[in-house]
Amino acid sequence: MSIRLSSGEEIPIEMHKTRMVQKIRLVPVEERLKAMEEAGYNTFLLKTKDIFLDMLTDSGVNAMSDNQFAGMMNADDAYAGSMTFYEFAKAVEDVLGYKHVMNAHQGRAAEHLIAKVFAKPGGVVPTNYHFTTTKAHIELQGMQVLEIYYDDALKTESTNQFKGNMDPSKLKNIIKKYGKDKIGFVRMEATTNLIGGQPFSMKNLREIRQICNENQLMMVLDGSLLCENAYLIMQREKGYENKTVAEIVKEMCSVPDLYYMSGRKNTSVRGGMIATNNEKLFEQIKPWLPVYEGFITYGGMSMREIGAMSVGVREMVDPGVAGCSVEQIKYFVNTLSKAGIPVVTPPGGLACHLDAMKFLPHVPQSQYPAGALAAALYIASGIRTMERGTVSMDRDKDGKDVFADVELTRIAVPRRVYTVSHIDYAIDRIQWLYKHRSLVKGLKFVSEPPVLRFFFGRLTALDNWGTNLRDAYKKEMGSA
Ligand SMILES: Cc1ncc(COP(=O)(O)O)c(C=O)c1O
Repeated sequence: MSIRLSSGEEIPIEMHKTRMVQKIRLVPVEERLKAMEEAGYNTFLLKTKDIFLDMLTDSGVNAMSDNQFAGMMNADDAYAGSMTFYEFAKAVEDVLGYKHVMNAHQGRAAEHLIAKVFAKPGGVVPTNYHFTTTKAHIELQGMQVLEIYYDDALKTESTNQFKGNMDPSKLKNIIKKYGKDKIGFVRMEATTNLIGGQPFSMKNLREIRQICNENQLMMVLDGSLLCENAYLIMQREKGYENKTVAEIVKEMCSVPDLYYMSGRKNTSVRGGMIATNNEKLFEQIKPWLPVYEGFITYGGMSMREIGAMSVGVREMVDPGVAGCSVEQIKYFVNTLSKAGIPVVTPPGGLACHLDAMKFLPHVPQSQYPAGALAAALYIASGIRTMERGTVSMDRDKDGKDVFADVELTRIAVPRRVYTVSHIDYAIDRIQWLYKHRSLVKGLKFVSEPPVLRFFFGRLTALDNWGTNLRDAYKKEMGSA
């Protein structure tokens, strides 16, 4: 939520109080450089003991509520038939409107099952934008992901309020080109993760549904960031200004044939789910659940997490929860943007995204500017962020880099974890780094795995720029 001060300024306001805390430590810049070198200039390989603000992701690191902890303690442990699962299923029906639900151990496990069961080898999956694990699972089933967004979705600075929309005319062309029998399913992602957490509108979701109906295509909604998309619809879409997040979420969920989500984001637990009102689709997936995840009443999750998840599903539509990180991100993005720092606009869900190609125009894409910026920001601040650019794309079959559409350094804002003063600190260090950006050079891979290389790949700093950045920082700011 946000609140207007008597001065007229609007600030994000936390609709919760802190009753349990974890100590964090800002290690000196000398140690930060050493840690970055040991991590092979890959922020995934840092250890949390060296991290001040962990803004790598909003996944599995959100603060749970007191009632969620109570839900964990009350969980009914059973291999089969746990009452905790039935409480969860009731919450899903009440909040999302789905009669059938199964858990999976996280979002990508749901993606695995859906891609496997509905695979059309040699076919395609049109989507408003891919997510890394989604793409990997679809491709592993022999299908190709086709991204069909409006042209300005990749313009990092924009006033388009719904850059997550799918372009209906492009979808129609794809259906004509490939034929509907070659389309596995049509996938909509709520607040497209990789292009800046940008939402789609309800109008667009319905337009795409209409095309799916006309062509008997299955529509799948990835609702990992469902509530942020709903909150942004409430703020931005005509006709929704007086609806609640809960009403918008229900309406969004009534549109697709099949719904899945990572529970690690909106529900603040470690798990996932697939849900639907189409019994036939549900029955097609169900036999595979025990093969890959577990029995139908636990699906690879612990009953404790399911207990917390059933509370999380009910709480996630509270505007104080759905809007918590959205409002912090708005403040973060607008302040940086006013200071002339290249960030993705308009602000979306999930994170504040720096446009690394504009921040480091002297670093070519072949030298991974978004990865270099993530490493530099860690050295200058102790803040861990994530590369979402070419490092996050795997090589093509000839071993060549596939350049990402956009090179973003993602500064995630986990739900209910950080305060506005933490964000002010981040803003300050980003501004310092921007002034010294010429010191930051590119990166080169030293070793990399063949798939999802951003997780384990190791890189090195060209011309040893990390040392120069450390020295400049120390001279001006001291060690901290
Ligand atoms: C849009 C989207 N889909 C799927 C996933 C995968 O979920 P998980 O990390 O729980 O496997 C993510 C994770 O970040 C995501 O953002």
